Amino acid sequence: MSDAFEQAVTWANDDPEGFWRAAAGLVDWITPFEQVLDRSRDPLVGWFTGGEVNTAANCLDRHVAAGRGDMVALYHDSPVTESRAAITYAELLDRVARFAGALADLGVRKGDRVIIYMPMVAEAAVAMLACARLGAIHSVVFGGFASRELAARIDDARPRVILSASCGIEPGRVVPYKPLLDEAIAQADHKPDHVVILERPQARAALVEGRDLDWMELESRGIPVDPVPVASTDPLYILYTSGTTGQPKGIVRDNGGHMVALAWSMRNIYGVESGETFWAASDIGWVVGHSYIVYGPLLAGASSVMFEGKPVGTPDAATYWRLIDRYKVKVMFTAPTALRAIKQQDPDCNGLKNFDISALKALYVAGERGDPDTINWAHRHVGVPVIDHWWQTETGWPITANCLGLGLYPVKVGSPGRAVPGYRVEVVNESGVPQPPGTIGSIVVRLPLPPGCLPTLWGNDQAFIKKYLTDFPGYYKTGDAGYMDDEGYLFVMARTDDIINVAGHRLSTGALEEVIGSHPDVAECAVFGVTDSLKGQVPVGLLVLKAGVDRAEAEIVEEVIAQVRREIGPVAAFRKAAVVRRLPKTRSGKILRATMQAQANGQPYKIPATIDDPAILDEIRATLLALGFDGVLIPEG
Ligand code: COA
Ligand code: AMP
Repeated sequence: MSDAFEQAVTWANDDPEGFWRAAAGLVDWITPFEQVLDRSRDPLVGWFTGGEVNTAANCLDRHVAAGRGDMVALYHDSPVTESRAAITYAELLDRVARFAGALADLGVRKGDRVIIYMPMVAEAAVAMLACARLGAIHSVVFGGFASRELAARIDDARPRVILSASCGIEPGRVVPYKPLLDEAIAQADHKPDHVVILERPQARAALVEGRDLDWMELESRGIPVDPVPVASTDPLYILYTSGTTGQPKGIVRDNGGHMVALAWSMRNIYGVESGETFWAASDIGWVVGHSYIVYGPLLAGASSVMFEGKPVGTPDAATYWRLIDRYKVKVMFTAPTALRAIKQQDPDCNGLKNFDISALKALYVAGERGDPDTINWAHRHVGVPVIDHWWQTETGWPITANCLGLGLYPVKVGSPGRAVPGYRVEVVNESGVPQPPGTIGSIVVRLPLPPGCLPTLWGNDQAFIKKYLTDFPGYYKTGDAGYMDDEGYLFVMARTDDIINVAGHRLSTGALEEVIGSHPDVAECAVFGVTDSLKGQVPVGLLVLKAGVDRAEAEIVEEVIAQVRREIGPVAAFRKAAVVRRLPKTRSGKILRATMQAQANGQPYKIPATIDDPAILDEIRATLLALGFDGVLIPEG
């Protein structure tokens, strides 16, 4: 094991306040904090209370003031528009300060919310940092979500302004954003004062007079503003993520703790310093994009790559290797599904041979379990450590990881590593009793969580306590299940709730069921995740029709699929559904989703003793076979 890693773990566990006080030196404070950890509102905690900071100033002004203004902050690389840009720290600061001034002109003040619904353009980063500069709270909504999801976020965050673009660009098609946004605003009860649209040449948007403004015109009129001091505990952003219902959860991130944790992680987990290039091939709509495309690399004074494209098809399966070579990327972060996509198209990784990727020191993966086949394939071809690490939107930065910056310890393929210093991870049974090594249980983190993790849910402390801190007193419930081995390596096996993971994207089957259930012909439905060789999991829906409905089943299925795409978005990848006569249930009426999921996955399963009508499983089996799931579907015992 690495000595530096062991020492950091010991220090963080024995003296967390001393450990994080030292890490806070990585951040510039406007007013020094009075307390490292404030537990006066237990179980809610505040990090670095009494301190004042500005996140944008730490990401930009500080580096420019230190003479690093000519260094590249962002490489924007967009094979889908065939454009590239290298934006220096000085240039980015200038744009952010001016755009912040323009937002202030629209009335945006400290504490106001701003929704950002944008594709992977540099302006999206400008928007996030401009909000941070004003102390306004941004909430980025992923471009692959459609109106219903966007409307739910508008009503919860109640933004003064929404920032968007005329379109996103997906391989082979332009996705106009404005109709989706207009529809979402029409659906939402809350109406923003203004909408600011970045017009892209691929599809221009019609502006609503009085409400909508042209981004470039607005930015050009903006008078640069100075960073606004905010309390360390003030929210920097809200990022909505799937919960167990259709209502997404607003994960809150603070300013001070977030900066300390990210700055520490850039140096100690990823081993990246100022002057080096880091690339997280994700989207600003996800937490990975927030932490490791925008805030983390900029806090570190590194160069970050912002990529508008896919791992394959834009233009080919060598695009990752091309960019690593082009920008001399030292550490890259991607999702296993992206590597599977490359592996499917270029199994021998021939595309790599044309590029020099010698700058690369490690390839980190997260977002879903790093399956051994994919990890081994990548390691064999890329030739650097391929490191699975585990975290979630809620934590904002890795919970378990092998830390390049502290010296790597041996990789165990199939495990995302050991707990990162600052996190005390345990596996407990249903009663909250810690389990011995090798025994599966709920994965929990002992309270208090380290800096950077969610302090609460937006506007709802009680929901935060109930959802995360109540089932296992003294712990934060991650919602994941797995086990730890006798050397402290964690193995994450499954979710304990109805969240599924589709191409590294987190989706709630409950939300899909709500949309499907709202179809006028559907009486009830069940959605579950089925294993997929590319996306990890894909959702499958089984529907029971209302009595008396005599329309063609295929037509209803088609409508339901279109409705999910229209309301939740294409990112749900909902393509497989069928009508069934009944759903299997327990005698108390609980739908047996796990049994159907096992059937579809070809996993051994037992007929539950509590089932009300065992014969129905044969019908489900026939339906799943007809949908193309052809595994072993015979009940055990
Ligand atoms: N705006 C609009 N539509 C979007 C979108 C966006 N920002 N992102 C995705 N979509 C659409 C896609 O066009 C696709 O539509 P389609 O049904 O018409 O084909 C659908 O949503 C599903 O997209 P995606 O999940 O990206 O699947 P894909 O088949 O296009 O590509 C992969 C598969 C594996 C290449 C892709 O999912 C990928 O790169 N994944 C990496 C995931 C990742 O980075 N996760 C972040 C966590 S670390
Ligand atoms: P998200 O909040 O979208 O980042 O999703 C977080 C969830 O994705 C986790 O709770 C896990 O279920 C899953 N996940 C993320 N990274 C990993 C990993 N390395 N191994 C296994 N599951 C992961």
